[in-house]
Order: sequence, then structure tokens, then C-alpha cells
Amino acid sequence: MKLILDTANLDDIKYFNTYYPISGVTTNPTILSREGGDIVKHLRTIREIIGEDKELHIQVTETEYDKIVSEAEAIVKAFGKNTFVKIPATDVGLRATAALAKKGIKVTVTAVFSAGQALLAATAGAAYVAPYVSRLENICEDGIGVVAEIQQVLDCGDYDTVILAASFKTAREVLDVALAGSGAATVSADVLKKLLSHTSTDTSIAGFAADWKKAFGDHTLSELLKG
Ligand code: G3P
Repeated sequence: MKLILDTANLDDIKYFNTYYPISGVTTNPTILSREGGDIVKHLRTIREIIGEDKELHIQVTETEYDKIVSEAEAIVKAFGKNTFVKIPATDVGLRATAALAKKGIKVTVTAVFSAGQALLAATAGAAYVAPYVSRLENICEDGIGVVAEIQQVLDCGDYDTVILAASFKTAREVLDVALAGSGAATVSADVLKKLLSHTSTDTSIAGFAADWKKAFGDHTLSELLKG
């Protein structure tokens, strides 16, 4: 499962792009509103940090068909071919998705809360569908179950659409969507760090260091290899 970073914070993007195997960055209007300022310049900086080969997902702000289509084209023109245009799962959004897919523009249909919406998005030619896992859990729905159901729907048809699971509050949810067959997940910096950290790893590392020091003092293995 591809892991994508769900933030527009430049420090987090620099850090995770360096140390973690992320495939790109996703944003949405709320995420961008936290950064403020010259947001076009900010998005250009994100593109510079991740390079032109990684995915950058940017959501449209227009709500009428013609304007969504032209805004999507302008977004791809400004931020390069590996830019995915996020369009919410609405009737006008699906119409725009179909038109953009025909022009070769990659669309992430976002704010997906049901397998029915995902089926329509896939049929319209979406590159990704983005179900919101923890927002589903927050309304007593089965977020992981919806992801599993969407994957089943995609497996039953001749679609090129991949699930980009989104909206996570816990590392366990990320693991569960991977087990449910999701092709990608977009995760906040906080939750992504929780996937790696484990107190038993820290304890094990401390034990290795103590045992080594007892036997070989302050010498490192590379020093000993030099003879
Ligand atoms: O990128 C959209 C999605 O990840 C939203 O997440 O945490 O606002 O529910 P959240």
C-alpha cells in the first residue's frame, strides 16, 4: 500500500520526504487554510520539495461544472503531470471527473463515505477514490468495512481506480485499510510517526548498545573493521 502524507506543513513534508517512504502529498482546502499566505507559492514549494515524480493532490475550489474543469486544467498546468485533482463526490463532481478523465487528467474523487459513491466515481474514470475512514467511524459507521466493500466493488469491475483511504485518527486504522486491500492511504504526520514508534524497539536498541559497550567499550564496529 502506498503511503502519502496528508499535510501542507513544509517542515513535515521535508522531514517525511527525507526519512519515510512516502509517495507524495495530499492537501485539501482545510489543510491549506492552516498555512495561509501566498498559497500558490506554498504549493509550488511543496512540489519543489517532493520533486516532479511524486504525487501532489490538490482539491478544486470551484463548484460549477465548467469552472471545475477549467480550474482542474489550471492546477495540472501549474503543478505538473503527477498532480491529482481532488473533486468531491457530487453529481457535478462526477460529471467533471468523467470529462477530465477523458482528457487524461488524473482525478481523486474525495469525501467518499459509501461504496455506492465509489462505484460511480470508478465508473466515471477516477484515478483514486478517497473514503474518509475516521469520519465514518465518528458517525458510528464501519470505516474499514466501507474500504473493504469498495475494494470488492473495484475487484468485480474493469476499473483502473485505486482506493486512497483518508481521514485517520489511529495507526491501527491505517494498518486495517492495508489489510482490507486499499492501494494507498494518506496519513497525517502524527499518525505516520505512530506507525513506526514502539517502546519495545527502543528497549531492544538500548539493550544492544549496553551489551556491545560491556564487551567492546566505546569502539564501533566500523572502527574495529579498520583494524
Ligand atoms: O485529506 C482529507 C482527509 O484526510 C481528511 O481528514 O482528519 O480532516 O478527517 P480529516
